[in-house]
Amino acid sequence: MSTETAIESTANQNEAAEDILTDHSYDGIQEYDNPLPGWWMFLFWVSIFFSPVYYFWAHSGAEGRSIHDQYDNHMAAVFEQRFAKIGELTADRETIMFYMNEDPEWLAVGKVVYQANCVSCHGADGGGVVGPNLTDDHWKHVRNVEDIARVIEDGAANGAMPAWKTRLSHPNQIVLTAAYVASLRENPVAGKAAEGNKVEPWTK
Ligand code: HEC
Repeated sequence: MSTETAIESTANQNEAAEDILTDHSYDGIQEYDNPLPGWWMFLFWVSIFFSPVYYFWAHSGAEGRSIHDQYDNHMAAVFEQRFAKIGELTADRETIMFYMNEDPEWLAVGKVVYQANCVSCHGADGGGVVGPNLTDDHWKHVRNVEDIARVIEDGAANGAMPAWKTRLSHPNQIVLTAAYVASLRENPVAGKAAEGNKVEPWTK
């Protein structure tokens, strides 16, 4: 570009710019009226109109849309996949004792279920909050380990202890959680005072 044309083009720009100066002036400072680019305005309006539609879509009606439902579904799928390896467990004494003593990897699944659903009432260490201490030798509804699974499944005290059979996605979760709860007795913590009857150590 020659100097001459450069000067000319700057002059043209200034001229064009003058046309679109806004008419206000603050302390002698003026500003150009530069409109936002069309694509920007387009996205702006599209997102404004999209947001209420999406809001109602995500928060009303059908289950499975919220991020929590999606998480639950994913977790259920993961459990399902892993449980395929061990089949459907029976909530009997032998099975619970086996997973409590012999299979730390599956016991950890029971721990995950416990951490996700039970700590609010029984405490992270099992020491008890609203619900009783699960680490001591005294139990209200339990004579031997299989009773733990039954209480988890059906609940107790008219729902003060909720029934979990419909809330957990797979019946194996009840058996593995029972095994985990049974194992808590190995590390008694000074939580809630003992409630119920003294129970002998779990027997096979
Ligand atoms: C909303 C609070 C609440 C939640 C959540 C809860 N529990 Fe309980 N649980 C209780 C209460 C309250 C009792 C005692 C019922 C009674 O007094 O008869 C109890 C009792 C029990 C018992 C019997 C204890 C005994 O002394 O016989 C077991 C086992 C148990 N819960 C396990 C669990 C497990 C496992 C979970 C999680 C899957 C869980 N609970 C979640 C409140 C809860």
